[in-house]
Amino acid sequence: MKKLWGGRFTKSAEEWVDEFGASISFDKELVKEDIEGSIAHVTMLNKCEIVTDEEATLIKEGLLTLLEKAKNHELEYSVAQEDIHLNLEKMLIDEIGQVGGKLHTGRSRNDQIATDMHLYLRNQVDEIIQLLKELQHALYTQASEHVETIIPGYTHLQRAQPISFAHHLLAYYWMFQRDTERLQDSLKRINISPLGAGALAGTTFPIDRHYSAELMGFEGIYENSLDAVSDRDFIIEFLSNSSLIMTHLSRFCEELILWSTTEFNFIELDDTFATGSSIMPQKKNPDMAELIRGKTGRVFGNLIGLLTVLKGTPLAYNKDMQEDKEGMFDTVKTVTGSLKIFSGMISSMKVNKEVMSRAVKKDFSNATELADYLAAKGVPFREAHEIVGKLVLTCIEKGIYLLDLPLSTYQEASPLFENDIFEVLLPVNAVARRNSLGGTGFNEIRKVLERISQTKKS
Ligand code: ARG
Repeated sequence: MKKLWGGRFTKSAEEWVDEFGASISFDKELVKEDIEGSIAHVTMLNKCEIVTDEEATLIKEGLLTLLEKAKNHELEYSVAQEDIHLNLEKMLIDEIGQVGGKLHTGRSRNDQIATDMHLYLRNQVDEIIQLLKELQHALYTQASEHVETIIPGYTHLQRAQPISFAHHLLAYYWMFQRDTERLQDSLKRINISPLGAGALAGTTFPIDRHYSAELMGFEGIYENSLDAVSDRDFIIEFLSNSSLIMTHLSRFCEELILWSTTEFNFIELDDTFATGSSIMPQKKNPDMAELIRGKTGRVFGNLIGLLTVLKGTPLAYNKDMQEDKEGMFDTVKTVTGSLKIFSGMISSMKVNKEVMSRAVKKDFSNATELADYLAAKGVPFREAHEIVGKLVLTCIEKGIYLLDLPLSTYQEASPLFENDIFEVLLPVNAVARRNSLGGTGFNEIRKVLERISQTKKS
């Protein structure tokens, strides 16, 4: 098959080699962006009097016909045309005749592919920001219902101090807030135009880069043509931001999985997000949470993959860079899918309030309250810690909990203990009293929820 770039070649390439080099099997995903970029390019060429009104009209009409066909899945791509750019160019020429060949004036596939990916990521990042907002809303809604639901807070996965379940959910709310902000910030670097950089050095045609950028809704342009065609930072940044989103989802998935075990039984995931076992009839497996945790691996892989691809490539474009796309597409698909599923899991999960509150009654997570109690009465904290530690040991030996010890035992340990310790030891009070800024105290959480609801309105 004759190549569009075949002029200097004497032997035609072999099909199996073509196949190895072709990217059409995956970069066809960029068909709409490629056409959008081409329309902007030809409009600019026309404004700069590089192509005539008549030529521009023909080319644009041809491109719009191709767009229509793309939407109806009527385009037939071929490996012989290597990638989306050459496939579309050939289709355009087939559609409107040789004048279609003028579209590529003052442009190269190198600035073209970079433009396509900037357009693509801009749209996808907007969509992911939207999905993060929906997830935050789901967390906010569950948190609002569970301000006074108490669970054990853990460090080292050992019971530490009782906390409000809302506080735990809101911790993730803020992680997703940072994820959102990171993506918003990255748009500054995604929403700029490489178009007009040519193959690497710019072009001799009197083009107007600002104009084509404006037509595509870009906020700026790359200052340097070499940088414009060689930069893949914006994709790496996206993969890195996505890795963090997946990390947050994965940590949360791990907790949902733990919490839905018989041992914890803190929550029950909705049937929609669980599956049964083909052999054990009693099973309800938290498959979707496990799968999101598992899919985190491929997103990390995509990040490391592209970093590695890029690290040894000299300026400017090298074919290595074609390897930037599959990981990017895969990441978009994985992150959007995971966020949708995760939001659904959060809004539909059943919270076993009673089990949670029973859990905090059968542990020593109120021990800090006693130590704080003594410290508030002037005992140096280290000493208070020691006294309470011994009381905990006494309880463990007797197989009871701090609330079960009589006042006399407390007073033997320290005369400063009075009857009010039994109030202080109640988990609900342990939580309610932690009203330091950002703490788990109920009032503090209510204030946070109020602040969040204000930002939602604004
Ligand atoms: N398919 C190529 C890619 O994805 C497009 C750019 C090709 N440029 C070139 N000079 N071969 O990277």
